[in-house]
Amino acid sequence: MKVIATALAISISFLAVSVVLAHTQNAGDKLAAGAAPKYDPVVYAELQKAPEKARNRPNPLQNDPDAVAAGAILFGQHCAECHGDAARGGKKGPSLRAAEVQGAAPGAIFWILTNGVVRKGMPVWSKVPEPQRWQLVRYIKSLGETAPATATESAAPKP
Ligand code: HEC
Repeated sequence: MKVIATALAISISFLAVSVVLAHTQNAGDKLAAGAAPKYDPVVYAELQKAPEKARNRPNPLQNDPDAVAAGAILFGQHCAECHGDAARGGKKGPSLRAAEVQGAAPGAIFWILTNGVVRKGMPVWSKVPEPQRWQLVRYIKSLGETAPATATESAAPKP
């Protein structure tokens, strides 16, 4: 009788151990899956995060005929080292001719300049006076106007 009881006890503890093991393994799997996206792999995703109020802010220099040229000069001074000549993309920064940027609201781009995406290498530009930041926005936006929309682009649904 004692022998049977011992055997039972042993197999029960085995069972318990394997249940615990299975659980830890599952937890490990879940942890690994949850830990994978440590950073947001989507460049430009930050533009989508601009608060509605910032996004809706109109560019006060929208009709200023000199804003684009002034923005181009500022871009060469501050931005081209990362974003490349004429914002075509460089070693450190992405192209700003991408649809994500060109389709973004001027206020969203302004918000990015004001706040940066510091953890991803995009500096804060709040030291650049506001009117100059709006000139930069005009310049960036002007880069989309030169390229005529292709059939696929114009067929794409507007967000
Ligand atoms: C030190 C390098 C560096 C400089 C200088 C720099 N940028 Fe950036 N910029 C980046 C990087 C890196 C990203 C991508 C950030 C990310 O992954 O979200 C970025 C992203 C952006 C974006 C897209 C926002 C987004 O969602 O990522 C805009 C618009 C932009 N930069 C504009 C500018 C302008 C205008 C200037 C000049 C005033 C400038 N940048 C200067 C590195 C730089």
